[in-house]
Amino acid sequence: MSCRSRSIGTADGLSLKLVHVVAAKDGLQKGLCEMNEIEQPQAAASEIARLRADYLDLMCDSLIGRLNRDPAIQPHIGGYDEDHRLNGWDWPSTAPSMIGLKRMQNLRTLCERVILDGVPGDFLEAGVWRGGASIMMRAVLKAYAMTDRRVLAADTFAGQPGGTDEADPAAFLRDEPIFAVPLEEVKDNFERYGLLDEQVIFLKGEFAVTLANAPVDDLAILRLDGDTFSSARDTLEALFGKLSPGGAVILDDYYLFEGNKRAVDLFRGERKIVDPIIRIDDYGGYWIKDSDSADCTT
Ligand SMILES: C[S@@+](CC[C@H](N)C(=O)[O-])C[C@H]1O[C@@H](n2cnc3c(N)ncnc32)[C@H](O)[C@@H]1O
Repeated sequence: MSCRSRSIGTADGLSLKLVHVVAAKDGLQKGLCEMNEIEQPQAAASEIARLRADYLDLMCDSLIGRLNRDPAIQPHIGGYDEDHRLNGWDWPSTAPSMIGLKRMQNLRTLCERVILDGVPGDFLEAGVWRGGASIMMRAVLKAYAMTDRRVLAADTFAGQPGGTDEADPAAFLRDEPIFAVPLEEVKDNFERYGLLDEQVIFLKGEFAVTLANAPVDDLAILRLDGDTFSSARDTLEALFGKLSPGGAVILDDYYLFEGNKRAVDLFRGERKIVDPIIRIDDYGGYWIKDSDSADCTT
């Protein structure tokens, strides 16, 4: 629609009528043009939001192997089972993450929330396996065109380290060969999603060493996925102090492994942390640091 103004004579009644018609039409056009000036950016913004949501939905489904119905490794599950994949109860044969849809969606939501709320800091995952959850964090940064935050992905990239206390309920995972995923394979997974770049930092080695010296000042997301007591303790002791108020601590295994829960509870008790742990699904939970002041509810 054109927004040109028009002049017209007013010598007779007809012209006068025309003036009214044109004036009314011009008024309508002006109004529509003004609306367009407002609506076009709004329409573009809602289209961007829709495309962003579609991209992140697809990433969630792909990263957990739901998109391609990637069968479970465990033979007793008998292939792909939707319930198992929603809840992260199984290990996908080839997909990059075992955390299931509910925890993946929660990770995505929390990453989006800290961005929208302006909570400063990078995103870090301690316990990466094939890289899926860390890839999701990088995908959220891409979806919001954020270039001033990084994803830090920490793991031995060789499976659970040897020194795990034998009594730890998660110690058996040390003997699972599929938990040893080499760094090159994880990088390749990032690359396949077009998300391997300088905004992704890999911290290779045991958390007790790598996280204490992690090259990071502020964190907005701290995701614990190392299963054991020591992995949770080492991660929280090294990094909780760097988490910004309003940032999220995500506990992938809190309700799954008793040792992991004990480490978290001990840490929270020592620091007198009362921010509530919000349950995500059977296994995982999270809390928002200083949740009162940050006004972050689910
Ligand atoms: C359950 S997997 C992580 C799953 C992954 N986040 C996903 O999206 O599927 C646990 C990972 O933690 C790592 N890990 C456990 N304890 C560790 C430690 N103390 N230091 C470094 N890596 C550790 C293991 O090597 C393994 O890759």
